[in-house]
Amino acid sequence: MNITEIRPGIRYVGVNDRTTTRFEALWPLPAGVSYNAYLVVGEQVALIDTVESHFGDRLFENIRREIGDRPVDYLVINHMEPDHSSSIEALRLRYPAIRIVSNAKALQMVEGFYGIGTNTLEIKEGDTLDLGGPTLSFHMAPMVHWPETMVTWCPEQQTLFSGDAFGTFGALDGGIVDTQLDPDRYWDEMRRYYASIVGKYGAPVQKALQKVRGLDPAVICSTHGPVWQERTGEVLDLYDRLSRYEGEPGTVIAYGSMYGNTERMAESIARHLAAEGEKNIVVHNLTYTDPSFVLRDIFRYDTLVVGGPTYNGALFPPVAHLLEMLSARCIPQRRIACFGSFCWAGCAVRNLDEFAQRMKWQPLGTSVEMKQGFTDSADEACRTLAAAIAER
Ligand code: FEO
Repeated sequence: MNITEIRPGIRYVGVNDRTTTRFEALWPLPAGVSYNAYLVVGEQVALIDTVESHFGDRLFENIRREIGDRPVDYLVINHMEPDHSSSIEALRLRYPAIRIVSNAKALQMVEGFYGIGTNTLEIKEGDTLDLGGPTLSFHMAPMVHWPETMVTWCPEQQTLFSGDAFGTFGALDGGIVDTQLDPDRYWDEMRRYYASIVGKYGAPVQKALQKVRGLDPAVICSTHGPVWQERTGEVLDLYDRLSRYEGEPGTVIAYGSMYGNTERMAESIARHLAAEGEKNIVVHNLTYTDPSFVLRDIFRYDTLVVGGPTYNGALFPPVAHLLEMLSARCIPQRRIACFGSFCWAGCAVRNLDEFAQRMKWQPLGTSVEMKQGFTDSADEACRTLAAAIAER
C-alpha cells in the first residue's frame, strides 16, 4: 500500500518538523508539526504549496520518489506564510520552468519576500487550471490566515487543498490520512492551533466555511496535520464552533500567583465548583503554562475565571499578557468571574473587572479581592463565587 497516494493522482509530499521548538517563534511544538504539500498529477504536474525552507531537500526527495525525473509544471500557492513558501526559491532552481500560480496579493508577496516576478500565472476567484486529467479551481479565503489565502479544489477527486484551514499542530507519526492514524490525538492540537494562529479571524473563517460546505469535499488536505477523509464532518463542525466563538459548558481557571496566596484562591474556587457538580474544570498557572494551551481551553469552554495579584500597581504580568491575547482575538462572548489579591493597595481585581467590561462578557457573581494571606473568609468568598459560576 502506497500511503502517500491520497486519491488517484494526488500524492502527499510533505515533511515533519520535530526540531523547531516554537512555531512562528511563539507557539510551543511538543509533538512537532507537519508542513504538508501535495502533488496533483495529470499530463502535467502541480505542486500545492511548499514547506519550510530547512526541509526543502526532503520535499524534493519526496517529489522525486513520487514522479521520478518528471518536471513539476506548476506551483500553486494557497498561502504565503514562510512555513509554506520559503522553499519557493530552491524549487525554482530545481525546476526552472515551473510556473507559479496564485492570486494577485500572493504574487505580490512572492516578489516581496523572494524577488520572484516572472513566469507567474495570476488567477482570480473561480478560475480553473487543466492539468490534462485532473483540473484545479481556485477560491479566495482571505484572512484564513493572511489576506492572500485561498483554497484549491480538485473536482474530479472531490478534494480540497485548504491551506492552514483545518490544520493542527503535531507531526504525522506514520499515517497521513485520518483513516491511517488515531485522529483523537489531534483534536486538542487543532483547537490550540486555531486559538493561537487563526483565532482573531472568526468572521472570515465563517465565510470560508460557507464556500467549503458548498464544495462538499470528500477529502480535505490541510497544510498541517492529518488529511481528513473519514472525519471531515467533525472537522467542519469544530471549525464552525471555534469561529463562532461558541463555548461548550466548562470552566477555565487561569491565575497568576507570586507566593501561593492567589493560587489558594484558585484552588478553592476549583474545589467549590466541583462540589457544585461541575466536571469540566481546567486550572492553569499562567507563570508555567504556555498561553497557547490556555487560549485553547478558553476557546473550548464558555466560562473564564481569571485571577492574579497586584504587581507594581498593576496586574501581575502573566495575567496581563493573557488578557492582551484575549483582547487581540476579539472573542465576543464568554462568562467571566474575577479574583485577585494585594498587599497594601489593590489594583488587580479592578483591572480584571475593567477587562470584563471592555470585552462585554457576562460577569458572574461578585469579584473576590483578598488582602494579603488566604483566610477562612477568603475561602467563603471563593465558595460564594463558585456557587454563582455554577448557576448556568
Ligand atoms: Fe501554516 Fe499561516 O501558515
